[in-house]
Amino acid sequence: MWHQLQLAYVGIEVPDPGSLTPFFAEVVGLVAGDPPALGGSLTWRNDDKAHRVVVRPGPANDAVYVGFEAAGGGAFEALAGRLEASGYPVEEGSPPLCADRRVSRLVSTTAPWGVRTEVVEDLLSAAEPYSSPLVPGGFLTSGVGFGHAVFATTAFEESHHFATEGLGLEQSDWLEMEIAEGIELEVRFYHCNERHHTLALAKAPFDLPQTLHHIMFETNSRDDVGAAFDRAWNAGLPIPNGLGRHDNDGMFSFYVASPAGFLVEVGHGAKLVTEHWDENRRYDRISAWGHQPLRPAAA
Ligand SMILES: [Fe+2]
Repeated sequence: MWHQLQLAYVGIEVPDPGSLTPFFAEVVGLVAGDPPALGGSLTWRNDDKAHRVVVRPGPANDAVYVGFEAAGGGAFEALAGRLEASGYPVEEGSPPLCADRRVSRLVSTTAPWGVRTEVVEDLLSAAEPYSSPLVPGGFLTSGVGFGHAVFATTAFEESHHFATEGLGLEQSDWLEMEIAEGIELEVRFYHCNERHHTLALAKAPFDLPQTLHHIMFETNSRDDVGAAFDRAWNAGLPIPNGLGRHDNDGMFSFYVASPAGFLVEVGHGAKLVTEHWDENRRYDRISAWGHQPLRPAAA
């Protein structure tokens, strides 16, 4: 499935969609997407597509769907067939649902990590190009989708099977380390285009209140990461991981907690996956440097 899939959008459900507006607009630097067909939602985008993050009202306080766009002739049918053949029956999306998602066609199934997973075709463009004074260099999305999403799950092996056999993603590498005595962290990273990972899965020791750990937006300019960090800092939001550089994908980034709890990573400069990828190996540290929790100066 090389180069034929891209992260199209993530749907998030929170009781009050407006509660995330200052976060997405003024901290991350997204702009409003096209109005949704279904009422009560707010949409956001980091490029010229109609929407990339949809925030709908409801109790879940978590990601409720994720969309992968199948690009290129026959890719949509091939992926729908692949899901069926590997044990994940798909349901055809109705015209109103396709209109809501701004796509021409859609099939859906539920991933073992519990989030509805949609494969779509022809995600529409927005009426206006992306432009924000907060992110003058814009975001890296062309050919690689809007970013990446990371989910935590107790159904780790089943989820790996779904990602690789069902969706046809390829494992980029994995992280296995002891984060405290007797507590192992295991994360697997998957690609479906040049982005180092479009999806990552973390092995959860028990069911967590949120399945969505974070979504990542990659800026074209390194300085735009620093500016986003300043906005997050000035907004007083929790910053669980300050600026740092990941060991595996090499990304320079930080993580800020959204008001809904899930994190957003803003980064720049991750390595690209090449066609003959031979770096699928274990890493034993998250970061080459940084990504420390920030602490205030002593009073
Ligand atoms: Fe990430």
